[in-house]
Amino acid sequence: MTLLLGDIVPDFTADTTTGPISFHDWIGDDWAFFFSHPADFTPVCTTEMGRTAQLAEDFAKRGVKPIGLSTDTIEEHFKWIDDVNDTQNTTLRFPIVADPDCEIAKLYEMLHPGESETAAVRSVFIIDPDKKLRLSMTYPMSVGRNFDEILRVIDALQTSDANGVALPADWRPGDRAIIPPSVSNADATTKFPQGFEEIRPYLRTVDLNAEA
Ligand code: BEZ
Repeated sequence: MTLLLGDIVPDFTADTTTGPISFHDWIGDDWAFFFSHPADFTPVCTTEMGRTAQLAEDFAKRGVKPIGLSTDTIEEHFKWIDDVNDTQNTTLRFPIVADPDCEIAKLYEMLHPGESETAAVRSVFIIDPDKKLRLSMTYPMSVGRNFDEILRVIDALQTSDANGVALPADWRPGDRAIIPPSVSNADATTKFPQGFEEIRPYLRTVDLNAEA
């Protein structure tokens, strides 16, 4: 089964470093940043785990819970977390799923045999409170993820949901947003009393922070 954007993500139960979870229940009313790793005690993964721990407040203020996965045991995860904390100067508190039999990695298509038969690649799933998949990215084993982009896309998804807008290339919070083509000019005038700019009939932008 290929996971597509907008799908309800598969539920699962698993042992994690913060205790057993049932994934959908664990997400609850929050968003989830579910990300996989090839293996414990590997250098790139160690930096990514550390970065996620360092960004704990940034995820929390967006209502996002991070959860990692690698295809190792819970005992290995606990030992590795000590290394992550030591080497990355942080305290890792989010759960890491133990998936030694690759059951969840298979369910989420994290195994890409061209890269490895047994280790998960670097998958990212951003999941909303309705348990819908809102973004997926897949990075190779040799390249660590860009956490600025992960936070940026969460901001963009939440801004899009809250305001019924789309966001342009390289959008950052505070930048102008795009009025989707499905919204008529008449409706846009009502919806955005601060006004909007029509660069082309299909390209209209609005300052979400401007006063009406
Ligand atoms: C790493 O996380 O450092 C890594 C894992 C598998 C292959 C290459 C690098």
